[in-house]
Amino acid sequence: MAHHLPFDYRSADELYQAGLNLGLEIPFRSDISPLLRSTTVGGRLVPNRLAVQPMEGADAFTNGSPSELTRRRYRRYAEGGSGLIWFEATAVVPPGRSNPRQLMLTSDNLEAFQTLVDSTRTAARARFGQSHEIFCVLQLTHSGRYSKPKGSPQPQAAAYNPYLDKLSDEVHILSDEELGHLQNSFLEAARLAYHAGFDAVDIKSCHGYLLNELLGAYSREHSRYGKGFESRTRFLTEVFYKIQNGVPDLLLSTRLSVFDGIPFPYGFGFAKDSPLDIDLTETTTLIRRLLLLGCVFLNISMGNPYVKPHLGRPFNKPLKGSELPDEHPLEGVMRLLKVTGALQKSFPEVPVIGSGYSWLRQFSPHVGAAVLARREASFIGLGRSSFAYPSAPLDLMEKGGLDKNKVCLTCSKCSELMRAGHTTGCVVRDSEIYAAEYQKLSGKGT
Ligand SMILES: Cc1cc2nc3c(=O)[nH]c(=O)nc-3n(C[C@H](O)[C@H](O)[C@H](O)COP(=O)(O)O)c2cc1C
Repeated sequence: MAHHLPFDYRSADELYQAGLNLGLEIPFRSDISPLLRSTTVGGRLVPNRLAVQPMEGADAFTNGSPSELTRRRYRRYAEGGSGLIWFEATAVVPPGRSNPRQLMLTSDNLEAFQTLVDSTRTAARARFGQSHEIFCVLQLTHSGRYSKPKGSPQPQAAAYNPYLDKLSDEVHILSDEELGHLQNSFLEAARLAYHAGFDAVDIKSCHGYLLNELLGAYSREHSRYGKGFESRTRFLTEVFYKIQNGVPDLLLSTRLSVFDGIPFPYGFGFAKDSPLDIDLTETTTLIRRLLLLGCVFLNISMGNPYVKPHLGRPFNKPLKGSELPDEHPLEGVMRLLKVTGALQKSFPEVPVIGSGYSWLRQFSPHVGAAVLARREASFIGLGRSSFAYPSAPLDLMEKGGLDKNKVCLTCSKCSELMRAGHTTGCVVRDSEIYAAEYQKLSGKGT
C-alpha cells in the first residue's frame, strides 16, 4: 500500500505514470465513443453507457415524497444526458429511513413518485428528442444499523457486531418474524415502483445497510437468516422470489457490496484465512442464484462508508474529523475496476454497472471507455460526479471531453451534508443551493 495523495495530474500521461509507479496499469482510451453507444437492459433500449449512481439528497418531505429540490436533481441528470438513472436509496418502511428526509415510497405518495418519474423522463425527451427513453431504476432499502428515522440513531440490525456497535448503542436485532414482514414491505414497494413508472428496482445490498449486513450475518443465532451461506443469503433471494412472482413485468437488480473489509465473522466477500483479501466465491454463487430469480443486471460496489469509505468512494479529502486511509486513491479505484471486471467476465451476458470513477475527474470517461472496450463493465456509473457535473454526458456528446473546471473534487462535503441529515448536493459546483446548506452545517460546528 502507498501513501494517500490528492489528485494532481495535468495529463493522461501523468495519470498513467502515477499508476505505473504504484504497480497499476490504468485502462485508458482517448476515443470515448464506447460510452455513447446504446445497449439493452432486460430487452429495453438504453441510449448510452453513462449511468447516474444512486445518491441520497435528503430533501424529501417527512412523508417520504420527493420535493421540488428532489425533482430538480433528477431533471438535471436527465437533461445532462445520462442514459440510465439509478434513483437514490428509498425506504420501504419508516423505521428503516436513514434520516427523516430520505425518500420513502408508500401507497399515499405514489402520485408524487409518478410525477418524479414523469418529469425526469420528460426532461430527457425535451432535450434529446421523443425517442430518447432513459432507463429508470429505483433503489429500495432498509438502513439497518444506520437507521435514523427521527434524526437520531435507532439501529435495527441483523446481528451484533463488535466492529460497528459502540457499547452505548442500543441495537435492536430484528427477529425472523420482523424480517418476514419486511420482505412483504419490499414486495409492496416494488409493486408501487412499477406503478410509478420505474423500469426496475434494486434491492439494495450494499454499504453496510440491512440487506448487506444480512449477507455477513455469521453470528446471527437460531435464525433462518444467519450463519451459513444459504441462510445469510435467504432474505435477499426470498425478496427476489416474491417480487419476480408478484410484479412480473418489473425488472430486478441489486447493488451489491462485494467486499467490506470487516474481518470474519462479521463481513462479506473476504478470504476467511486473510480477511482483508477479496474472495468472490460466495458473491459469484449468490449472483448465479439471483439470475435464476429474475435479476437482469447488477451494480457493483464495495465497502461500508461508515467505517471504510475509501473502499467504495476514493477521495481527496476525508470527512471532517476522519483520517486519511493507508492507500493511494488510485489503488481504491483500481480495486473497484478489477473486481467489477472479474464479475463482468464471469457473467458476460449480464449488464454490470461499475462504481468509483469520480476521483478520476476529467479522465474518468477515458478510463471508462477503455473498461467498456475491454468488456469489463457495461455501464460507467458516476456518483459524486453527477452531483457536481450532471451535464458531463452532454459535454462528452458535444465536445468529446470534460471541462476540468466542472468536475467533482472528491472533497467529501456532500457526504458531510448527508451524514448530518442536511439537504445534499455539490457544495462546490452547485454552490447557489448547497454552499449555503454547508454554511449552516459549519455554523453548527459539526
Ligand atoms: C452523498 C452521497 C450519497 C450517496 N447515496 C447513495 C445511495 O443512495 N445509494 C447507494 O447505493 N450509494 C450511495 N452513495 C454511493 C455512491 O452511489 C457511489 O457508489 C460512490 O459515491 C462512489 O462513486 P463515485 O466515485 O462516482 O462518487 C452515496 C454517496 C454519497 C457521497
